[in-house]
Amino acid sequence: MQLLRVENLSVTYHSSSGPLSIVERLSLKMDEGEILGVIGESGSGKSVFALSIMGLLSTKMVMRADYLNLDGEDLMKMSAMDRAVYVASKAAIIFQEPQASLNPCFTVSSQLDETLSIHQGGTRKNRRVRALELLDSVGITKPEILLKLYPHQLSGGMNQRVAIAMALACKPRLLIADEPTTALDVTIQAQILELLVNLSQSEKAGLMLITHDFALLSENTDRIGVIYSGQLMEHAATENILNSPRHPYTRALLDSVPQLGDRHVKGSRLFALQGQIPAMDQLPVGCRLGPRCPKAEKQCVNKPELLSVENHGKVRCHLAKPSPTVKKPLEQEEQ
Ligand SMILES: Nc1ncnc2c1ncn2[C@@H]1O[C@H](COP(=O)(O)OP(=O)(O)OP(=O)(O)O)[C@@H](O)[C@H]1O
Ligand code: SF4
Ligand SMILES: [Mg+2]
Repeated sequence: MQLLRVENLSVTYHSSSGPLSIVERLSLKMDEGEILGVIGESGSGKSVFALSIMGLLSTKMVMRADYLNLDGEDLMKMSAMDRAVYVASKAAIIFQEPQASLNPCFTVSSQLDETLSIHQGGTRKNRRVRALELLDSVGITKPEILLKLYPHQLSGGMNQRVAIAMALACKPRLLIADEPTTALDVTIQAQILELLVNLSQSEKAGLMLITHDFALLSENTDRIGVIYSGQLMEHAATENILNSPRHPYTRALLDSVPQLGDRHVKGSRLFALQGQIPAMDQLPVGCRLGPRCPKAEKQCVNKPELLSVENHGKVRCHLAKPSPTVKKPLEQEEQ
């Protein structure tokens, strides 16, 4: 069953020098229990996209979408208040820095209790039992002791486990993890990732795993969306992305990972895309990857549309061969 359907979601940032398009007509779908990887370089718009689903954008950003369906309800048809209440009951987000979700002034116990009193209610005693269960489910071995501690008394990995426990308190149907392991030691990274994957499978919740590290996504995801400069460049099953990427940007990201790129010969330098992601007020004409793209051609001065590619997925590149049945860009049609 479908859990999330986003159609033509755009985010505009109203800067002092005028409006800037941060995310442009992004469309994605997720099924129940699916693990979707979202990847792209720093500044590509991954976090803004996630925050727009959660309704947590800064006041200077405005989100529009043709359709934003979460667990059967179109958020675009709700009032701001109804939407906030609905999203809080259906989705949760974990950030790179667990401190973003935790208050340094309160113990783990009081923070978990507050979250549980909002989502679950019941007596303080029942909430304590549930808090202990949640901490146990995220692999904390002595939850009674941990409840009494403040975030600054915990390691980064422990804080992230507490943040995940708090996110799980609302029994989310959709869990968004925005670079959940980037700030952690390598050994802890693997544990947290395994925890998130196991939790999403046991709870049948969708997991959106946002990262700039392809190695993290290769084994854990069902599908991958590749974002560059606020646009979806490719969206396909993980095996299609890994085995036959159709977009030069996806190919470049893969080739920059030692274990995954087929260009990499042991002892040689890793491939790196030249240049940098463009500033949002200095976007190139035509394809946004154009100035950096190793495959760029004359026609790339025209904007490529996102098209369906047979037996693959969606690709935004003039070189990708669209399915013969596709008559118009996906962004204008019912998906
Ligand atoms: N609060 C904000 N105010 C103004 N611009 C912002 C704000 N947040 C993000 N941006 C801009 O929006 C664009 C996308 O940023 P975003 O944080 O979504 O990127 P990202 O893909 O998550 O990058 P990273 O991998 O570094 O987390 C960037 O150009 C960034 O400068
Ligand atoms: S449209 Fe052109 S510039 Fe853009 S990714 Fe494809 S080949 Fe490269
Ligand atoms: Mg980010």
